[in-house]
Amino acid sequence: MRIDVLTIFPEACEPFFAASILGRAQQAGRVSIRCHNIRSFTKDPHGKVDDRPFGGGPGMVMMCQPICDAVTAVESESPLPATRVLLTPQGERFTQAMAWEFSRCERLLLIAGRYEGFDERIRLGLSPREVSIGDYVLAGGEAAAMAMVDAVVRLLPGVLGDEESVVEESFSSACDMKSEPGSPDAAGLLEYPHYTRPRVYEGMEVPEILLSGDHAKIKAWRREQAIRRTRAMRPDLLSGEVRRDGDESTAADR
Ligand code: 6GU
Repeated sequence: MRIDVLTIFPEACEPFFAASILGRAQQAGRVSIRCHNIRSFTKDPHGKVDDRPFGGGPGMVMMCQPICDAVTAVESESPLPATRVLLTPQGERFTQAMAWEFSRCERLLLIAGRYEGFDERIRLGLSPREVSIGDYVLAGGEAAAMAMVDAVVRLLPGVLGDEESVVEESFSSACDMKSEPGSPDAAGLLEYPHYTRPRVYEGMEVPEILLSGDHAKIKAWRREQAIRRTRAMRPDLLSGEVRRDGDESTAADR
């Protein structure tokens, strides 16, 4: 997979893409992530990429020319057709399902803006997908681009060592239908609590059942914990089946 990121702050994104799992995925040849500075495509004599809004109002607007020329130039670097994504708080909400969808694209082109927004003709000219990572406003799309790339690349085949870790986690199974029926998050639950050494930390003990070696009991305990946690933190995720299932947790949990 190839991912291009257009931004006026490539230096903010590059170290993130070079670190940890994303860095390893690139070294292994699973993905190539390239950042491009929108400013280097402007034809403005002062290097401007933004200007004041027609009609007045606060803030600055990203100009058409630098972004549209950057898209043309970057897309021509490879014959693979790119899925264009404009990062904006007005966009469709980014979800795990969208991460799976993007992970099946050969090429993504992410456009991160700053300032008050994009000149509307960027949308009309490029017909991009418009994506937001949540209902809050960031000063720029870079953090959103980094979040999206992280979520997408870790789903590419061979990027995570243990393939299981993708399907067992919160949000994954409900979207991709890859989990086995009965696995802890088959209903799209949050993850159960995890513990590692030591067995006692500042007086807090690891639940006895996890040390028991009884895998059936551990599996049942984890499912119950996942439901309890989902009910407390994200009741909107619970399916009708789990919501109605009184045996899944005790009355005291609710
Ligand atoms: Cl993609 N951009 C900005 N500027 N703010 C956001 C966002 C994107 N998603 C959530 N908030």
